[in-house]
Amino acid sequence: MTFQELKPKVTEIILKANLSRDEKLLNICQLLSDSITYYNWVGFYFANHDTKTLHLGPYVGAETDHTIIPFGKGICGQVAESNTNFVVPDVAAQDNYIACSFTVKSEIVVPLFVDGKNIGQIDIDSHVIDPFTEEDERFLEFVCVEIAKLY
Ligand code: SME
Repeated sequence: MTFQELKPKVTEIILKANLSRDEKLLNICQLLSDSITYYNWVGFYFANHDTKTLHLGPYVGAETDHTIIPFGKGICGQVAESNTNFVVPDVAAQDNYIACSFTVKSEIVVPLFVDGKNIGQIDIDSHVIDPFTEEDERFLEFVCVEIAKLY
């Protein structure tokens, strides 16, 4: 499925009246992981700005030990501070990376802004080296803008 075809499906989930916010987030994880072959783990982390930690939210994929990540640590923790997308074509080439599984070869993290504040992020792991393009970034930015409407 193309990103263009996926966009209305994301919006459809956002607008569903009978689902909680977490259920919507989980459905979006499922949709993305089912639709894009190289999206092998799709999940959300949410920031606690008092403790400067990220907390695992809804996700689809292998269970992870990394349920709490301090700001600055790993790809996710860096995005909590940089407020910008982080595309890692090859995780083996990254110093500040938190490994979840040896099957993960690349990662993309896109921050989620609500009223200009970075409240969390969508995190995607892939089993393929260097699969992410600017199209992924634009699509995931769209997903984050849609999700921001739930806050
Ligand atoms: N690899 C991430 C940790 C989270 S997992 O991918 C689920 C990182 O370096 O921040």
